[in-house]
Amino acid sequence: MAAGAATRRNVGRVSPTWWVLLGSLAVQVASKDSDDLVRGPVQPSPIRVPVLRRAYDGAPEHGRRLVGEISGNLETLGYYAANVCIGSPGSMHQLIIDTGSSMTAVPCATCTTCGRHKNPKYNPVRSLTSKRLGCKNPPFHMRCSRCENTQCGYAVSYTEGSQIRGAVFTDHVHFGDGLTAFTERMVVGCQTHETGLFKGQVADGIMGISATRSGGLASPTPIDRLVELRRIQNTFSFCLADHTGQLVLGGTVRPERAAEVQWLPMRDQKFYSLALNDIQLDGQSFRVDRRKYAATIIDTGTTFLYLPPDAYRRLKEYFTTRCPWGACVSRKYRTRYNDEFCYSMRQSEWVQFATLSLHFDGSHQPLHLSPAEYTYEIKAKGALPAAMTVRCLAAFDNKHNGVVLGAAVLRNREVILDRANGRVGFVRTDCARVQPSTSILANNTFLSDRCGQGRGRKLDVSNASALVPGKLVYQLAGGGTGDAVGSAAAALAAHNASRRALRPQPDRARWQ
Ligand SMILES: *[C@@H]1O[C@H](CO)[C@@H](O)[C@H](O)[C@H]1NC(C)=O
Ligand SMILES: *[C@@H]1O[C@H](CO)[C@@H](O)[C@H](O)[C@H]1NC(C)=O
Ligand SMILES: *[C@@H]1O[C@H](CO)[C@@H](O)[C@H](O)[C@H]1NC(C)=O
Repeated sequence: MAAGAATRRNVGRVSPTWWVLLGSLAVQVASKDSDDLVRGPVQPSPIRVPVLRRAYDGAPEHGRRLVGEISGNLETLGYYAANVCIGSPGSMHQLIIDTGSSMTAVPCATCTTCGRHKNPKYNPVRSLTSKRLGCKNPPFHMRCSRCENTQCGYAVSYTEGSQIRGAVFTDHVHFGDGLTAFTERMVVGCQTHETGLFKGQVADGIMGISATRSGGLASPTPIDRLVELRRIQNTFSFCLADHTGQLVLGGTVRPERAAEVQWLPMRDQKFYSLALNDIQLDGQSFRVDRRKYAATIIDTGTTFLYLPPDAYRRLKEYFTTRCPWGACVSRKYRTRYNDEFCYSMRQSEWVQFATLSLHFDGSHQPLHLSPAEYTYEIKAKGALPAAMTVRCLAAFDNKHNGVVLGAAVLRNREVILDRANGRVGFVRTDCARVQPSTSILANNTFLSDRCGQGRGRKLDVSNASALVPGKLVYQLAGGGTGDAVGSAAAALAAHNASRRALRPQPDRARWQ
């Protein structure tokens, strides 16, 4: 996003812990000495707002003790990540899937200050296919936002206050389509600096798959590249369950299932955004001026639902006064956060909370969020009465206008980002069971985690059954899988990271 240029100058002056830079989904930050390298329209000054998320405050060793306690991924990890194989020979990296930013980046072998993550760092020197990018004429119409020793660099700040920086490479990323494995050259950031949640998280890095190339670097996302190369149709879908999920790339809606898809038009082509006009609870409108819902975006990199203050107040009031068992307070479960509302309850109780319905322009049918989506489970400390669990409201105050549909409320549906036709489709799905072969998108492609062994060896492209060995090929790893949790210290950073939001707030001026 060109708007990244606007925010760049201010970064040096404001503490990223307290200020969010607005204007694009992931803000590219340039160092002082490279400002002149960046072209792009002059933008008005960014609006600054306090960070709403509790950023992780370092000290990953605090996390280790609690690894065994991890239960749900929303509480413990706060993100969904996929295994991505990069380079030749390939090395595996677990990357957060973020529909709100456009940079794909992993910790670099040369990084001495990076946190401890799930996998070893990416070493471009060991990959036969890696190419470093010079500052002049980077490929794919990119713009180097920083220049270090003549190498193209990147720096991205995220809403919750963390930042990554490093050098830009291109390298092979491995995919599969059920019949063949293939690699394509993608832009990969090799970071030599990471702060905040990025440092403490289990996942190695991030894969941004936003709607447009955002930020000063304007790097094409893996989806942009696959579309350009005509490897996939210009669409993808994700499906998030409590502990796992799936990401498929390309494909077309199976004709026999077309009727199941609820389509909503994207509000514009720059973001995965929807025109929300009303929110109702049990059929009762919140009666909030629809302009306050402007900029309702689909963002897998944000953990929860963020609502404008008026709407949030209505939902909170409901959740704190209308409990199925009577006095809400009798079941209150205290956490360390004042704005987290949790109760111990039985499933037969929590399912009785009303349905939240989101009404959008362009569809008569609202999107229904059941309590399974707008609440989430946390692990209780100490014993609870039989059959009880602790569930909390998965919505928070955005503190200003705009709505973020974060991962929690995107659960239990296959969500199709049909970029070609500017629309978003929703299909109720058991996302813990879905597979590429049962996705609503037929003939899809997915990230392959079959990393070739040995020098420069290519993936085995001849044997389809070898390519689909089991769940890991296409699954997104959440915290509960056991897969993501094992190693890194960060697992408990985890708990704090649960409120992570990788996405700066959209620019108000832009949206209204
Ligand atoms: C999937 O690909 C096959 C073979 O190319 C084609 O016959 C079929 O129509 C495709 N299915 C869909 C739903 O696009
Ligand atoms: C294909 O892969 C499967 C599973 O790894 C293996 O059992 C089979 O022998 C392979 N077939 C060929 C032709 O390589
Ligand atoms: C989580 O955040 C709180 C408050 O910022 C901090 O005191 C605590 O040490 C953090 N815990 C972990 C495990 O990082």
